[in-house]
Amino acid sequence: MMNHSQPQGADYNYTVVRQFALTTVLWGIIGMTVGVLIAAQLIWPQLNFETPWLTYSRLRPLHTNAVIFAFGTSALFATSYYIVQRTCQTRLFAPKLAAFTFWGWQAIILSAVVTLPLGITSGKEYAELEWPIDIAITIVWVAYAVVFFGTIIKRTTSHIYVANWFFGAFIITVAVLHIVNSMSVPISLWKSYSLYAGAVDAMVQWWYGHNAVGFLLTAGFLGMMYYFVPKQAGRPVYSYRLSIVHFWALIALYIWAGPHHLHYTALPDWTQSLGMVMSLILFAPSWGGMINGIMTLSGAWHKLRTDPVLRFLVVSLSFYGMSTFEGPMMAIKTVNALSHYTDWTVGHVHSGALGWVAMVSIGSLYHLIPAIYGHGRMYSNNLVNVHFWLATIGTVLYIVSMWISGVMQGLMWRAVNSDGTLTYSFVESIEASYPFYFVRFLGGVFFVTGMLLMAYNVIKTVKAPKESLPAPAEA
Ligand code: HEM
Ligand code: HEM
Repeated sequence: MMNHSQPQGADYNYTVVRQFALTTVLWGIIGMTVGVLIAAQLIWPQLNFETPWLTYSRLRPLHTNAVIFAFGTSALFATSYYIVQRTCQTRLFAPKLAAFTFWGWQAIILSAVVTLPLGITSGKEYAELEWPIDIAITIVWVAYAVVFFGTIIKRTTSHIYVANWFFGAFIITVAVLHIVNSMSVPISLWKSYSLYAGAVDAMVQWWYGHNAVGFLLTAGFLGMMYYFVPKQAGRPVYSYRLSIVHFWALIALYIWAGPHHLHYTALPDWTQSLGMVMSLILFAPSWGGMINGIMTLSGAWHKLRTDPVLRFLVVSLSFYGMSTFEGPMMAIKTVNALSHYTDWTVGHVHSGALGWVAMVSIGSLYHLIPAIYGHGRMYSNNLVNVHFWLATIGTVLYIVSMWISGVMQGLMWRAVNSDGTLTYSFVESIEASYPFYFVRFLGGVFFVTGMLLMAYNVIKTVKAPKESLPAPAEA
């Protein structure tokens, strides 16, 4: 992959890559700003201004949808379209369909931005959008699959680079998850009820939810990792063999782990235990992948001193390793008895979401954006460096505060006096959480500030005249 004589940059279809790359930054800022707002509302509830569409319950799903499906998924579209062309040494299949995926996806995002604050929701976490939008998602996703796999089919290389395996698995699995979990009976244009009931509904929902984590928030971003880490480090992937084992082990295991979201519920006990065991085993391929990424820097460690883009990528892998160690631990039933319902879960989510998903996307975009605009680097490496520190400190503030408040809440809720009565009321545990909510809010402000610097740097890079920045090392 590293030294092939590929077509010149101009031969690739970069229009759709550019569109998705720029909207990734925009939606990142919007989605994370809503995150900061809801973090602030948990400290100062009056920030809902007594307005229904600004209430926490409506803005929270807006946040999760915006960061996962607008920011994260746009990053996946941009990078997969870029990587599949370059590693297959061919232009995108069906360029008009590719353009349709861009405009279609933006329309879906806008419909989420309108319907969620209006309170239109199916009530299923990460699948809140109502049935007409669900149908639109299916259509755009099938178009995405046609463009991606069409490009793989018309490749001029003999083999399919491992990044494309991960993207391919992500595209197929998300389609299956979305279609199965969204099955519902519409009763009006904007209201439907799930086709499933009771424990089955819960199981289908968390089979979806967990595999959205596994295939959207993990597999797709591993695709990014397998391309941009070697590129930025200027080294081949540490072990191609490990990457194949990593791929098959990860996709074979993830699909069984969903019940760890439903410990101590009406779900049959054996399914909970199965989910726990599969989650524990999942630790192995997760760390195999992380080690493969980090070891790719063998012989290039010194570059970390001077290259903030590489720092983003390597630190994202460290957070990936951390959250995939924490996840299996939280899947153990006795640990989950403490962590569930507390902020510990929220801390775990954001060590994956900010530390891994956002940081690997940001690092990848700092490599990709100059390349698609014909430059060798971003307008300002210093700003990338400042962004790196803001993002890292912001993430650490967020997750450490949530760990402390989470464990504290869990311990307060289970504390009993010698006569068997509860030591603390629920309100006391909320009161005790306020200082940590403030630290989380600060962490969010750090992270969003970094994103704003990124937007400025991106605009300057896009507008930079051709020869004003160093030329790309290769086309
Ligand atoms: C500035 C950055 C961010 C801030 C301040 C922030 C803040 C928040 C807050 C306050 C919540 C609600 C927690 C609760 O209900 O107790 C939340 C939930 C969530 N956020 Fe973020 N967030 C940020 C970035 C992100 C990113 C980049 C992602 C994904 C890529 C993400 C994914 C999620 C998810 C999945 C949840 C739901 C967690 C759960 O149900 O356990 N967030 N966020
Ligand atoms: C080996 C890998 C992982 C395992 C076994 C795992 C396990 C878990 C467990 C046990 C929970 C708590 C469930 C509960 O008590 O409700 C959880 C929640 C969650 N995890 Fe992970 N995790 C892993 C990696 C990740 C990564 C890398 C991300 C993000 C990129 C992530 C995102 C989430 C989200 C969003 C939730 C909250 C779901 C919700 O309740 O809304 N996880 N995970």
